[in-house]
Amino acid sequence: MKPYVFIDRPIPAEAEAYIAEHCAYSIWDRKDPIPPDVLQEELSQANGLLTSGRKIDSSFLEAAPRLRAVSTISVGYNHFDITAMKARGVIGTNTPDVLNETVADLVFALILSSARRTPELDRYVKDGLWKPGDNENLFGIDVHHSSLGIIGMGRIGEAIARRAKFGFSMEVSYCNRSRREHAEQQYGAVYMTLEELLRTSDFVLLMTPLTPETARLIGRDQFRMMKKTAIFINASRGQTVDETALIEALQEGTIRAAGLDVFDREPIDPDSPLLRMPNVVTLPHIGSATARTRYEMAMLAARNLVLAVTGQTPPNVVAELS
Ligand code: DGY
Repeated sequence: MKPYVFIDRPIPAEAEAYIAEHCAYSIWDRKDPIPPDVLQEELSQANGLLTSGRKIDSSFLEAAPRLRAVSTISVGYNHFDITAMKARGVIGTNTPDVLNETVADLVFALILSSARRTPELDRYVKDGLWKPGDNENLFGIDVHHSSLGIIGMGRIGEAIARRAKFGFSMEVSYCNRSRREHAEQQYGAVYMTLEELLRTSDFVLLMTPLTPETARLIGRDQFRMMKKTAIFINASRGQTVDETALIEALQEGTIRAAGLDVFDREPIDPDSPLLRMPNVVTLPHIGSATARTRYEMAMLAARNLVLAVTGQTPPNVVAELS
């Protein structure tokens, strides 16, 4: 008998067709949330789940007694409760690599737009505020030949370092749990302590996965270590930062600006002060959001799932569960 899988969101037709070749399945292919009774019914039968960002914890697993594998269409898997999944022997897979270059592009969009104030000045022109004699009030800061400190030098970090070094002649530094010789040799990335990186970087970029060790890694003390002219970029997860401390640092001029793709709560609270600050660029968590990359991610997640539920070893089992 074919394994039964549940797909909890719309996915590209090719990814669905691939799953259909190998599994019995059902799909929630609507944008509105799944009603709890439908989810409950699906989970009671499913051997596999294709998802993105759904919390997989012990209460979820209790409702899914036959579940053998969860495949997430994301590189981040902080929504996997590793202890609970280990205890139940449920495999978890993610989608690394296929999104590296796309996320790196988006990080540069945040760096450039926060340094040169492009969203703010776009609004300025469209609101009819552009006048002859405008000069210093339109100034930004240079990205080229500045310094970029990358916190979390994984594969996406390396794609960013490559752009920084060869595209913008930036000095790259990084901190990471382990040294990345490739980044050091190819992009001249200098390994530093977090404190040293914070004190010396023009752009401080947070790229680390969210783990118990990195939760709220950047807070009031860390913002105070940064240059007053520093621009803080976050493309990791909102919970790696103390958002209240970030708001305070921006309001008090402890740092110059921020470019944010991720937030503590997503979608962000419409009353957040971050939405009213001209020196903050805000994006709706779109690091990997291009049609081609999301397609590649969905195909990879579908392959991971099929391999896992048919008793084979998928290439992208997350490290803690492999
Ligand atoms: C991921 O895949 O985890 C990223 O957050 C996508 O933007």
